[in-house]
Amino acid sequence: MTGKCRIWRSMLMRWLCRIGRAIQQRQVPRRIEERCAELILSDDKLRDVCQRLLVELNRGLNKDTNKEATVKCFPTYVRELPNGEECGKFLALDLGGTNFRVLLIELGPHIFHMESKIFAVPQSVMLGPGTGLFDHIAECLATFMHENKVDVSPLPLGFTFSFPCSQEGLTKARLATWTKGFKCSGVEGEDVVKLLQEAIARRGDIKIDVMAVLNDTTGTLMACAWKNPACRIGLILGTGINACYVERLENVQLWDGDFDEPNQVVINTELGAFGDNGTLEFIRTEYDRTIDQHSLNPGRQLFEKMISGMYMGEVTRLVLAQLTREGLLFDGMGPEVLFEPGQFFTKYVSEIESDKKGEYTCCRQVLEELGYEDASDEDCANVRYICEAVSRRAAHIAAAAVACLLNKMGQKHVTVAVDGSLYRFHPHFHDLMVEKIRQLINPGLTFDLMLSEDGSGRGAALVAAVAVRIGSLAAR
Ligand code: BGC
Repeated sequence: MTGKCRIWRSMLMRWLCRIGRAIQQRQVPRRIEERCAELILSDDKLRDVCQRLLVELNRGLNKDTNKEATVKCFPTYVRELPNGEECGKFLALDLGGTNFRVLLIELGPHIFHMESKIFAVPQSVMLGPGTGLFDHIAECLATFMHENKVDVSPLPLGFTFSFPCSQEGLTKARLATWTKGFKCSGVEGEDVVKLLQEAIARRGDIKIDVMAVLNDTTGTLMACAWKNPACRIGLILGTGINACYVERLENVQLWDGDFDEPNQVVINTELGAFGDNGTLEFIRTEYDRTIDQHSLNPGRQLFEKMISGMYMGEVTRLVLAQLTREGLLFDGMGPEVLFEPGQFFTKYVSEIESDKKGEYTCCRQVLEELGYEDASDEDCANVRYICEAVSRRAAHIAAAAVACLLNKMGQKHVTVAVDGSLYRFHPHFHDLMVEKIRQLINPGLTFDLMLSEDGSGRGAALVAAVAVRIGSLAAR
């Protein structure tokens, strides 16, 4: 074959492939695109989200505006990041979702050994009296300590409690308000470390030494900082969402501790509450309002409700149900369960989007699981389009929040430690975020997103370990 022929042949092949792909990747009807347009946020709108978050962060940090601020920016009393010299055996508790974990961690130079056990938190406990919750935690802890034979002398413990808390020290944290499906009575306004210690004392069979109470974002940051000193932001994208970052003390007007070195403290922003004062109305939709109205905490955690794993499946379901009712999907006759709240899980969005473009194997499986057997390629393409619209919006506004923190910090390079089921299991969340953060950060800044697996558990042990290290240095 002559050179010319070869060029013609390869051009022809490319053409055929392109046509094939276009046929495979069915065009989504214009009407569906139009109905989803409100979920697609332009860069201008995302820049606006960044700007507004900056205003809210500053209101949280400022002592005159903190009281009415929605993004509370709680100082955590964690000031030192791990330096790799932490050593010893530590216990950690990790409460923040439907599961509760107890961990035993051994740290040393180049040693990291971890045993852990997951315990379920039944819904009746999540919604019952606070004493019931803390008795359950104490019971799981005791079971674990007996099983692992660490019930003889008290071990230092780090307690990851992933709800908004106003801290009064490293071991004192008052719950501001419940989020994420918890609503135990008698806990809001109380010190959760005290409630834990009281529950342990009621049992009388174990002894612990609580060295620190922390948020999962702080744990995630610490776990990553143990290996990577550029790590300055901790981000959770899971059942709930939130971020913490390292702030200079001079910017934290609420700081009531000393100003010794290091002149910094980790701030738990609680940015899931961004928008609770109406500032995000310009991007919220009827779907977001419906979710909020039917939630356990109406009017609160509005940013979280647009992004997190607890709500993203439900946002998607509402769009699917609405467009089906309008006759734009499934010829107006979709799976019954689409019309039942809570029946379309966030994991379905991740599964549907993990199909290769133009293929619908996972999508069909999900629809079959929902009782819809004869999905056409067109149905699947439409469902996927809607999943993408919802998850892209979530990834893009999460990116706007990270960009806002990076711009505020203004450090040349920052590593962002990320954990959470949404980030881990959604096939494109990472890439979507990286692409958008790049577009939104100030020139000259660079960043990377690093998965900090298991950060909330490992981080608890690390915060306890740093506290022990500093304590033993001070005692010398
Ligand atoms: C809580 C945060 C937590 C986040 C991620 C939110 O609902 O308010 O404290 O960090 O979920 O778990």
